[in-house]
Amino acid sequence: MTSLNNILEKAYKEHSLSKDEILSLLNSDGEELYKYADRVREENVGDGVHLRGLIEFSNICKCSCKYCGLRSPNTKIERYRLEPDEIIKYAKQGTELGYKTIVLQSGEDSFYDTEKLCYIISEIKKFDTAITLSIGEKTLEEYKAYKDAGADRYLLRIETTDEELYKTMHPKMSLENRKQCLYNIKKLGYEVGTGCLVGLPNQTVESLADDILFFKELDADMIGIGPFIPHPDTPLKGELNPKNFDMALKVMAIVRMLLPDINIPATTAMETINPMGRIIALKSGANVVMPNILDTEYKVKYEIYPNKICLNEHSGKCRNCIEGKIKSIGRFVSETKGFHRGK
Ligand code: SAM
Ligand code: SF4
Ligand code: FES
Repeated sequence: MTSLNNILEKAYKEHSLSKDEILSLLNSDGEELYKYADRVREENVGDGVHLRGLIEFSNICKCSCKYCGLRSPNTKIERYRLEPDEIIKYAKQGTELGYKTIVLQSGEDSFYDTEKLCYIISEIKKFDTAITLSIGEKTLEEYKAYKDAGADRYLLRIETTDEELYKTMHPKMSLENRKQCLYNIKKLGYEVGTGCLVGLPNQTVESLADDILFFKELDADMIGIGPFIPHPDTPLKGELNPKNFDMALKVMAIVRMLLPDINIPATTAMETINPMGRIIALKSGANVVMPNILDTEYKVKYEIYPNKICLNEHSGKCRNCIEGKIKSIGRFVSETKGFHRGK
């Protein structure tokens, strides 16, 4: 057996790897890794794919993350924010389309204070759906209030665990506070979702291995890995590096090997840079897809990166389209809310 196979067998049996072993997998062509990750996915979470209905309810953001089209210094983007009752209306439509989880995502927009957010959460909860929040860094008290109002999960990517890179990418933010937010979310009993970007300028393979070890240490419930896609109106504008797809896929597959029963989305960014991206991801360890359920007028304005998929498709069409794709690879849409470990 080659040493690569030894590493994969070890990951398969023990769900644990050293940093050097992770690096060997990241530097491989990925083919064997993807097969193992698919097997681990099948044995631990089965063939069901959980669909989460995504509502991107505001593109207004006070932060300046260098990679993101929503960053506050970007004056070219047309901003929008949905009224609370409009968000609730879209969530209701989502549950009527059969989504068992509603994901509420936005820029860091202080218009939505704790009172407004708790109102939105408690109203959506009446539709018998799980709720995931992805609205950035908040205080422990704010996270607690949303949890008490009915939120089940929280998604906050660490983006990178490399201190220097984190500082360069996130003016006026700190890696320490981001980590503290994740620990607070976990302490409050949320299902914790995090993840990283792959392919940021000056990001090393070593730091990606550290990111993976961080996910394991945090014992996350959900990990989303996104290839970095340059946005023309940000400081990181430039050519898309197609290698970001392969590297993101490898990071995702290793995460499946180390955290065998968690939820892992086939991300929209993967499909944006590869027309088969979500299907390839579903066959390499992923078990979740998060289609957007807003109307086109909002979808086009939530431009974190260019050329996003499905911008002109109606939410009902996406729901059918993705179900067709899932069935075409012998999988099925899950009927459950899809909590980690069936909680
Ligand atoms: N504001 C919240 C936050 O930052 O956690 C949630 C919304 S933010 C737009 C969601 C995710 O988009 C980020 O975690 C980041 O990883 C991703 N993202 C932003 N710009 C991107 C880009 N240019 N390419 C790929 N993903 C990007
Ligand atoms: Fe704002 Fe999130 Fe974009 Fe950063 S990644 S600029 S916090 S929306
Ligand atoms: Fe949107 Fe296929 S998932 S059209």
